[in-house]
Amino acid sequence: MTARQAHAIQVRGLEKSYKEVKVLRGVDFAVARGGIFALLGSNGAGKTTVVRILSTLLKADAGTAGVNGFDVATQAAKVRESISLTGQFAAVDEILSGRENLVLVARLRHLADPGKVADDLLDRFSLTDAGARRVSTYSGGMRRRLDIAMSLIGDPPVVFLDEPTTGLDPQARIEVWQAVRELAARGTTVLLTTQYLDEAEQLADRIAILHQGRIIVDGTLAELKRLLPPAKVEYVEKQPTLEDVFLALVGAGGRGGDAGEHRISTQTSDE
Ligand SMILES: Nc1ncnc2c1ncn2[C@@H]1O[C@H](COP(=O)(O)OP(=O)(O)OP(=O)(O)O)[C@@H](O)[C@H]1O
Ligand SMILES: [Mg+2]
Repeated sequence: MTARQAHAIQVRGLEKSYKEVKVLRGVDFAVARGGIFALLGSNGAGKTTVVRILSTLLKADAGTAGVNGFDVATQAAKVRESISLTGQFAAVDEILSGRENLVLVARLRHLADPGKVADDLLDRFSLTDAGARRVSTYSGGMRRRLDIAMSLIGDPPVVFLDEPTTGLDPQARIEVWQAVRELAARGTTVLLTTQYLDEAEQLADRIAILHQGRIIVDGTLAELKRLLPPAKVEYVEKQPTLEDVFLALVGAGGRGGDAGEHRISTQTSDE
């Protein structure tokens, strides 16, 4: 693999089991550079497992994965230089102020002007006014924004956000969404996992649904919606929501591990 590739993330045939439990049964997807890609799935679908493999924290049993052109198994150090990972629980220090947290990480990364790096990020994430305050006084949304800001120090080209808005109130979610949109607008590739359909619908330019160990559908929101015909109710034509599509594909349940044979391609749909 070379560092110059069309795709920021490329995953082929990924398999992973924990003891007898086969969590990933051949996961395939690719993420274009500069896009926001949502990996959607129910609790326990294996989203975090995929993210942990892509961020070199976990080894796959089979398959290959490339991030920023580097192989996660054989070029792990290069992959780590290319990414940041924000987990569900904020990694910020409560006693320090927001600005101090940022300065600390910038120092740890040996950046030239830690104070300026911190101030720029506070500005980008609308935290300038709160910058001097202890993080213990921040709201959940502010903490999550600070956490994302910290992960951007050093400008990684690929950012993983594992359930960035779980546990946040609606206002805080919208603030985090805005921060994620800004990331992508600057050319950063974002892979986020979520169990919230509206989050994928709002943010992602490509959505993949992970179900029973495989990606059962992968496409743009418009492509996913085309999988279901619009329901006609008297005179009103209702477009299917992403929730309708998700439930039609996943909700019936009990397909007993053969989801891969039902993978629906949206690549060639034209009508
Ligand atoms: N270290 C582990 N040992 C054993 N089983 C594990 C381990 N980590 C995850 N699992 C199991 O693997 C499955 C997938 O877990 P994973 O955390 O990847 O799911 P997820 O899609 O991120 O779920 P959630 O939405 O709840 O975060 C689950 O059934 C989980 O119990
Ligand atoms: Mg998870």
